[in-house]
Amino acid sequence: MTRLCIALDTDYEKAVDLIKSIKNKEVVFKVGYKLFISHHRKITDLIKQEGFELFLDLKLHDIPNTVKDGVLSARELGADYLTVHVSAGSEALRSAVEVAEGLKLLGVTLLTSLEEPHLKELGVCVSKDEYVVKLSALALSCGLSGLVCSGKELPLLKSKFNFFAVVPGVRLEEESSDDQKRVVSLQEAIKKGADMLVLGRSILRAEDPIQKVEDILVLLSSHP
Ligand code: C5P
Repeated sequence: MTRLCIALDTDYEKAVDLIKSIKNKEVVFKVGYKLFISHHRKITDLIKQEGFELFLDLKLHDIPNTVKDGVLSARELGADYLTVHVSAGSEALRSAVEVAEGLKLLGVTLLTSLEEPHLKELGVCVSKDEYVVKLSALALSCGLSGLVCSGKELPLLKSKFNFFAVVPGVRLEEESSDDQKRVVSLQEAIKKGADMLVLGRSILRAEDPIQKVEDILVLLSSHP
């Protein structure tokens, strides 16, 4: 079954409320810049104490030794998943894998907020699909556990590689896509083979976020 990961891109009080209210321990909580920079251990410890898996979305992108240190520190926090930008290069990825042990490293291919014109801006002259395939092949050959990718590229990547697919940029029906560009619907992402869906604003903006999570879990369980 596709798992649900809630992106806690919100204030501390709302995040604590969500962590304490959700009973289904199969839900994964993702902590990113907003909460980690200002509340770090207070929030990561709570997630672990409440019995959830911790997804640390720090998108490491640095020289190999610094990335390795980042992975070691994430392990100390008890993180279960950690993101690394594949564009940090093979040496950084291998250094991360060397010390990851049980921590699952997820390679960020191309952010779901970027499209082909952005690649040109960055001086990348291959198509978006070629670029994503190239980064995915590199990540998996270096031993990463999975990839963060858009639902748009999922069929292409699943046809080429066997990997754990984490899909952000997911929206429920008739919602704004915000800053996300390569967006797919929740049903589409499940059908295309996502192993874990990352949802932030669709849940956080709901009038009743807990009920929204319940509704999504029902939907996920009806697509085994
Ligand atoms: O609010 P929304 O559902 O768009 O949030 C998506 C989450 O997934 C954010 O926390 C964002 O940082 C994260 N993410 C992403 N694209 C990636 C990797 C992570 O949107 N490639």
